[in-house]
Order: sequence, then C-alpha cells, then structure tokens
Amino acid sequence: MAESVSPMTGKTCLVTGATSGIGRATALKLARAGARVVIVGRSAERCGAVVESIRRETGGAEVEYIAADLGSQAEVRRLAAEFVGRHSRLDVLINNAGALFALRRESKDGIELTLALNHLAPFLLTNLLLETLQKSAPSRIVNVSSDAHQDVKAFDFDDPLARHRRPQYGQSELMSLGMCLTMPWAHPAVVQYAQTKLANLLFTYELARRLDGTGVTANAVHPGFVSSNFGAGNGSLGFFMRLWSRVFGISAAAGAKSVLELACSPGVRANGQYYSHGKVVSSSPASNDQAAAERLWTLSEELTSIRGELRPE
Ligand SMILES: NC(=O)c1ccc[n+]([C@@H]2O[C@H](COP(=O)([O-])OP(=O)(O)OC[C@H]3O[C@@H](n4cnc5c(N)ncnc54)[C@H](OP(=O)(O)O)[C@@H]3O)[C@@H](O)[C@H]2O)c1
Repeated sequence: MAESVSPMTGKTCLVTGATSGIGRATALKLARAGARVVIVGRSAERCGAVVESIRRETGGAEVEYIAADLGSQAEVRRLAAEFVGRHSRLDVLINNAGALFALRRESKDGIELTLALNHLAPFLLTNLLLETLQKSAPSRIVNVSSDAHQDVKAFDFDDPLARHRRPQYGQSELMSLGMCLTMPWAHPAVVQYAQTKLANLLFTYELARRLDGTGVTANAVHPGFVSSNFGAGNGSLGFFMRLWSRVFGISAAAGAKSVLELACSPGVRANGQYYSHGKVVSSSPASNDQAAAERLWTLSEELTSIRGELRPE
C-alpha cells in the first residue's frame, strides 16, 4: 500500500480515540492529506495537546477536537450534537476508540464497559450521524475491529454484559495475574474484548446491508498487532500486553495504513468488507452470521434506547 494518502481537501473526518496510537496516526495522515479533522478523546487537555502537535507537524492543518467519554451514552449524544452543530458535512467517520478492562467495570449507563465503549458507542454515534453522512455521500464509515474477534465462536447473547460468564471477572488483580500467567487467552477481559470486536464486525456487515444504495459505505479493519497505549492501566494484563506489543508490534503509523486506505483511497468501493494489511480478508464464520447481526442490531437499539432510522429491507 502506498505510504502517501489520497488528497482529502474539502473533506471532513471524525476520528474517535485519536489522542494516541492508531487513531492519532490516522488523524495526522488525514490532516496531512488536507482533510478537516475532528478528533475525539476523553480529556480536553490531551485532545488539545494532540491538536497542537498535529497542527505543528502539518504546518497548520485544520484540526479540532471534541472531548467526550464514549463509555457514556449521554456523552456520545453530546458529541454527535456538538459535531452536527459545528459541521454541515461528514465524509469519513472512523470509529477507532477502544479498550479492554482487566477487571469488570460498568459504564454510567450500567452496561459492561468493554461492550459500552467498543460496540455501543460506535453503534450509537454512527446512527446519530447517519443523516449528516448521507447528506455528504459518497461518504465512508470505518470501524476498527480486530482479528481478536476470531477468539470467540459466537456472540454471547445469553450474557452480553458478561455478568455470569466468568465469576472471577472483576474480582481481583491477583486473579487477573494468575490468568495472565496460566491461560491468558481465557482471561475474561480478553474474552469480553473478543466479543466486542466480533460485535464490531456484525455491526459493520449489518450496517453495510442497510446502507446499500445510499452512497454511504461501512467497512471494518484489523490494524495489525500495534505497539500503542492499548492495555495501559490494566495491571498485569496491561503490562504483558504492552510488553508483547513493544517487542512484536508494528508502529501506530503502520497500523493506521489499512484504516487510511479504507477512509481515503478512491480505489476502494467496498461496502461490508473486512480489511487487513491493505486487502480484503475473510472474517470468522460467527461474524458472517446474518441472523446474529440482526439480533445484535436489535439488542444494541434496546441498550442505547435508539430506534435507528435504517430498517432491514
Ligand atoms: N493495538 C493493537 O494491537 C490493536 C489490534 C487490533 C485492534 N486494535 C483496536 O484499535 C483501536 C485503537 O487502539 P490503539 O492500539 O490505538 O489503543 P490506544 O493507544 O490505547 O488508543 C486508544 C484511544 O481510544 C481513546 N479512548 C479510550 N477510552 C475512551 C473513552 N472512554 N472515550 C473516548 N475515547 C477513549 C483513547 O483516548 P483517551 O485515553 O485520551 O481518552 C485513545 O485515544 C481499538 O479499537 C483497538 O481495539 C488495536
């Protein structure tokens, strides 16, 4: 894939989770390509510092921020309203913000936080911005998923909020360390993360089906194993993840390449595809289960109290 990004002059892009890692690298490249870029992160201070650094690195690109904690649905709604209040168009929405939590936590809305942040926030934000995306068509939605989605065989509709799946989830750092040292792949936080990355794909494919013919496309991407801040603040689990990614991971800029390809490349006409390393790849059978995708859509509408305007055919 070419290192340079196609010109984006006149385009407006919204990148969530752009204060570090893949999101920051993506925002920088978009700004360099001439786009007007709006970045999102939790802290106004961190967002402001990134905006300043991108402006410096690009010689004054049009970059701004909206600070919002995407773990809170009220904040997602405020973000969408603020964005629409400031901008009349949205050419590219990149749902990138994501995390995992070694100990089970709940959002302000009483929803397990990995699901709230990694899946419900992009679901809600995308639905709230659909009108603007449709007005700006051709426009693109890029959801940052992960090959980690393959670690689970199906979306767990019996326990989507991970209340019952693993009694030890959320109990102690000592237990988390024990899991890291013995069966890291079965760590409840890793399993719940995989659930949410599967949800990203089910959502993307269902969204693409519902958007068919509107001029708005939705695709998902695996950025690769990237050395970033991912896992920070998660005790031993975060320590091991970051250690591994420092040794074996690629740079955030390299991780942003497929995201940028989907966001900018004029050659990409895909809708409902999964990309990795610059090309379309297959995702797991579970992610291609259309009945599960429709069921997840309905569950997500219930959990976010939104009735999306997009209905199945
Ligand atoms: N790193 C990898 O190997 C890898 C592999 C596959 C997929 N991914 C996916 O790539 C995406 C980006 O990960 P990364 O590696 O770049 O991680 P990162 O360096 O930890 O960046 C995460 C970004 O998300 C933001 N964020 C976290 N919680 C948030 C919240 N509640 N509200 C708003 N923003 C929030 C962070 O901003 P603040 O902290 O400033 O709020 C930060 O900008 C994630 O979706 C992840 O699942 C990563």
